Formats: sequence, structure tokens, C-alpha cells
Amino acid sequence: MNVLGIETSCDETAAAVVTDGREILANEIWSQVEEHRPFGGVVPEVAARSHVVGVDAVIERAVETAGIRFSDLDAVAATGGPGLIGGVLVGVMTAKAMASALHIPFIGVNHLEAHALTVRLTEGETEAAAFPYLLLLVSGGHCQLLIVEGVDRYRRLGTTIDDALGEAFDKTAKMLGLGYPGGPRVEEAARRGDPSRFKLPRPLLGRDNCDFSFSGLKTKVRQTIESLPAGPLGDDDVADICASFQKAATDVLVDKCARAIDVFKNRFETGGAMVVAGGVSANMQIRDSIIELAQSTGMRFLAPPVALCTDNGAMVAWAGVERLKAGMTDGADFRPRPRWPLDPDAA
Ligand code: KG4
Ligand code: ZN
Repeated sequence: MNVLGIETSCDETAAAVVTDGREILANEIWSQVEEHRPFGGVVPEVAARSHVVGVDAVIERAVETAGIRFSDLDAVAATGGPGLIGGVLVGVMTAKAMASALHIPFIGVNHLEAHALTVRLTEGETEAAAFPYLLLLVSGGHCQLLIVEGVDRYRRLGTTIDDALGEAFDKTAKMLGLGYPGGPRVEEAARRGDPSRFKLPRPLLGRDNCDFSFSGLKTKVRQTIESLPAGPLGDDDVADICASFQKAATDVLVDKCARAIDVFKNRFETGGAMVVAGGVSANMQIRDSIIELAQSTGMRFLAPPVALCTDNGAMVAWAGVERLKAGMTDGADFRPRPRWPLDPDAA
């Protein structure tokens, strides 16, 4: 079974072909970073237009690289939300048109579900990523702890009440003049820095819930920058702020994951894994700290390889495979959803 996956919900035009045997036959990505760089962040209108220009070529390249013909595809999946609606529309319309012309099913994929299920693609045939598992989903738009009970079955334990962590990384980078995209640059600068130099808050740490808040941390970073002598910041200042910020964020994530692990263990006596996904989970300090936590609690730790943590087509194609196998396909009346919670019961 060959499924084409199309991802256009943010600033990457991506397409991939993945089989039900967990083979990634092609995973093409066309980044718009250079187009958004002058603005210091993603401009939705620029992104939407750029997806229109790029999507056909990216899909053609994916099918060609996969060594198959369009007629060998068994389904077309596209991110149907949540995300920037202009881009999502481009992917969904393209996928519906292809599905109609090829007489194969169309599948509208929740972008968060694609991140959530990626580990089942990358863990091979083993039962390591069997349901249920605990998921920390940290990206540019979300920061949530969820129990993944099955395809289309999620229970949210907590979420951010304001900013997503990726957003806080990006804003910190912008304030420090590190440019866009910010997460990897903050991580790189943090490696040279002293995480104890600046006292930054750990919002909601110690509270008896699995919710997050990062807007106060971001504000404190700005105030810290303003408190330094006027003029350009030195390399050491930048590195120390990045290290202090990253440490504060990591401490909060570890505290909340520990609570979520307790909840998970109370509900499921055996098995389970602590899984991380989403762009911020590419961060090695965060990853290592959660690995340590998982080990200390006897939970297995799983994460997709870094290249599959940030947005890509393979995760959408794989979610398409999982949904196709479960008989969950969509019709031409599928409507893209700029907001689309994984757990409909969560507030
Ligand atoms: O999952 P993703 O590619 O897109 C969304 O669905 O949002 O996540 C992008 C986010 C951005 O905020 C980016 O700065 C952040 O992930 N990110 C990182 C790292 N790599 C990407 N944050 C911290 N450290 C990284 N190494
Ligand atoms: Zn994403």
C-alpha cells in the first residue's frame, strides 16, 4: 500500500510516499524559510502563495523519488488542520483533486495526529510504540500532554494556557537578534552559555496539573535583555540568556511530564512509553532531560529521529496509512479546520 502525504500547514511545502510496511519511499521538503526571513517570522499570506507555487513540483518529485507512478498510489492524505488556513486549503484542494482523478481515497489528517503517530512509523515492526502511550507534543503552535489510546483516540491531560513553547523559543531568538527559525539557534547558543546566570521563572512548576504557561517566561527574557547595558549584546550575554531560558523551559517540561507519567501509570498498570514529538522535541537538552526522567520512572522513552520531529510529509502519509487501515477516509466535502483539537472533550 502506497500513501502520498502532503503537508502545507505552516512554512514548509512537503510531500512523501510511505508504505503500510513502514517504508519511507520519498520524503521531499521545500522550505520557505528564505521567503519569511526578512520578516523575522512566518507571514501567512506569503506562506499560502508559496505553497500554491511549490506544491505540484514537490509532489511530482516525491512520486518520482519513490520510483512509482501516480497510478501506484492507494490514497492521498493531506494536513487538514490545525494550521494557517491558506496553506491548509492548498494541500487539501490538491489532495482532493488527485484523489478524484486517480479514483482513490482522500484522507484529511489532523497535523497533531500526524506528529503523534510518527513514532509508530519509525519504531519499525516492534511493539515498542503500541497503544496506549503518553505523548508530549511540543511544536510552534502547541504544547500538550496526551494519552494516545489509538488512532483518532486521544485524551488530553494538559495544554498551554497561553504561548506554545516553540513560539517562546522563536520570540526569544528574535529578541536576541538570532533570526528565524529560532529554536535551533537558541539551542546552539545555549550550548556555550551558563544556565544559572539569569534567574528566569518556571511558570506553573509544582502546580498539581499538567498545564503549561510560557508567556511570563518570554516577558522575563525581554526584561532581562532590557536590564543589560545599552548597546549590542555580547556573545556571552546571548549564550547565557539562551541557556537560562532553555533550562527554565526544560525544568517545566520535566515537572509536567513527571505528573503525566503518574496519571498514566495510575490508569495503565503495565506497558506504555513516554513519547515526544513536534519541532521542539528536536532539542537535545529537552530530549535528554526527558530520557532521564523516563528512565527514573521505568518508562520506555521513544522519539522520532530529529528530521521527522519538525514538519514533514512522511508523518502525514503515515497518519494516512493508519487511518486508511482503520477505514477512516474522507469525502470531497471535508472542510479544512484552522483549529482542530485532538481530544474533543478537552476544554
Ligand atoms: O512541529 P513544527 O515543525 O511546526 C509546528 O507544527 O509548529 O515545530 C516548529 C517549532 C518552531 O517553533 C521551532 O523554533 C521549534 O519547533 N524548534 C525547536 C528546535 N527545532 C525546531 N525548538 C527548540 N530547539 C530546537 N532544536
Ligand atoms: Zn508541526
